[in-house]
Amino acid sequence: MIEDVHLRVEDLIYPIFVCDGNNIKNEIKSMPGQFQYSVDKLQDILDKIISSKIKSIILFGVPDKKDEHGLVAHNPEGIVQKAIKYIKKNYPSLLVIADLCNCQYTTHGHCGTIVDGDVDNDLTVKNLSKQAVSLVKAGADVIAPSDMMDGRILNIRKSLDEKGFQKTPIFSYSIKYASAFYGPFRDAANNSPSSGDRKTYQMNYKNSEEALREVELDINEGADAVIIKPALSYLDIVSRVKRKFNIPIIAYNVSGEFSMVAAASDNNWVERVNIIFEILISMKRAGANAIISYHAIEIAEKLNKDV
Ligand code: PBG
Repeated sequence: MIEDVHLRVEDLIYPIFVCDGNNIKNEIKSMPGQFQYSVDKLQDILDKIISSKIKSIILFGVPDKKDEHGLVAHNPEGIVQKAIKYIKKNYPSLLVIADLCNCQYTTHGHCGTIVDGDVDNDLTVKNLSKQAVSLVKAGADVIAPSDMMDGRILNIRKSLDEKGFQKTPIFSYSIKYASAFYGPFRDAANNSPSSGDRKTYQMNYKNSEEALREVELDINEGADAVIIKPALSYLDIVSRVKRKFNIPIIAYNVSGEFSMVAAASDNNWVERVNIIFEILISMKRAGANAIISYHAIEIAEKLNKDV
């Protein structure tokens, strides 16, 4: 009765990796129990999501073919576009959030368009805006840009508005630290940079004030919610954003956070369900409204049983 922090199934967003090809359900080595799915196999996971009562998913594309500028990401028949059409047709009740970035679609694996050996911010923003329009045309309910370029929220907002998609919200990854916690995701999404790192556009984890500036910029440019990632080592940031701004916050319980729990609990070093609850509730306690988590389904099933 007097507990003041609660975790609800509605707070959970489940990430799905969709890949090209047929009849594929590939387990991700570093993320036991998580898979890449081809569109024809999505039913496996979507049925589970529906029965667990989770209402929102976020999609990541894992295409076979990549190119220098990630143009494959604008293709109306691209992998994420195909998945969105399939999901909206067969599972219309789900809120489909489309992650928006270049790194899975470029041969060099960087989140931006490379010119003279470096990421060209403004060109990247233009390409991302085209990708956003293409994803919304396919039926995406929400766009979530995760590239960390400057000025992209304003540009994406303008592009969506011009094409008649004024009502599509943008959940911005406003705060994205350059982090070792993304290690397993790079296995899952095949998006490791072939050279260099992401430190020129992702944030330095020794900075905290910068995080607040990033949120302020994105709110002014039109973000409807902000995503903070990673989550677990950054709860101080979640809490500061919560106190300073009145905008919904989504914490991303990222791949490395998932895999550490999976490895330790597979060895019986920690008790899996209890530790996941403690972790997810800590994110709510810090101020997150919602949480993107690979644990979403297993925890939703527990929450449903407890009711
Ligand atoms: C990049 C992106 C990353 C994640 C999602 N989108 C990080 C990166 O590779 O730099 C990480 C999510 C996770 O670790 O679960 N577009």
